[in-house]
Amino acid sequence: MKILECAGCGHIEFEEAPQTCLVCGAKKNAFKENPDAIRQPGHPREPTDSEKKHIPHIVVVKQCGLIPDGSCTDVHVKVGEIEHVMQPDHHIRHIDYYLNHKFISRVWLSPETCHPAAGLHLRAPEGSHILALENCNVHGNWMSETTV
Ligand SMILES: [Fe+2]
Repeated sequence: MKILECAGCGHIEFEEAPQTCLVCGAKKNAFKENPDAIRQPGHPREPTDSEKKHIPHIVVVKQCGLIPDGSCTDVHVKVGEIEHVMQPDHHIRHIDYYLNHKFISRVWLSPETCHPAAGLHLRAPEGSHILALENCNVHGNWMSETTV
């Protein structure tokens, strides 16, 4: 899957750039392919503790009480399996959500008041692909994915 990075703000898109960056408004041609824009664990089956602090941990909850018609899929994301710190000089800036590799939402996190976590209530048909991508201000972008 082609990884495209916005030169204006670093926002990531997959496969095809949008007409304008949905985060900073830069034009389509600001997106450049960058296979290194998302960091990967050295050994995916045996991530180090540092990697476990950055790889998003996705929890899908299919029974939502907030939206009563039963169509809601809650997608919770925690960074990471070992909780990442939220300090002024080292924290998770934001968590981005992608549905079938299309960007759908960014949750900004204040280091003063937020846990390194987010949740969205999605209208995501059965079998949809969910990708969560987090940005650490020191250690860059990390992602994980699942199917709902
Ligand atoms: Fe970090």
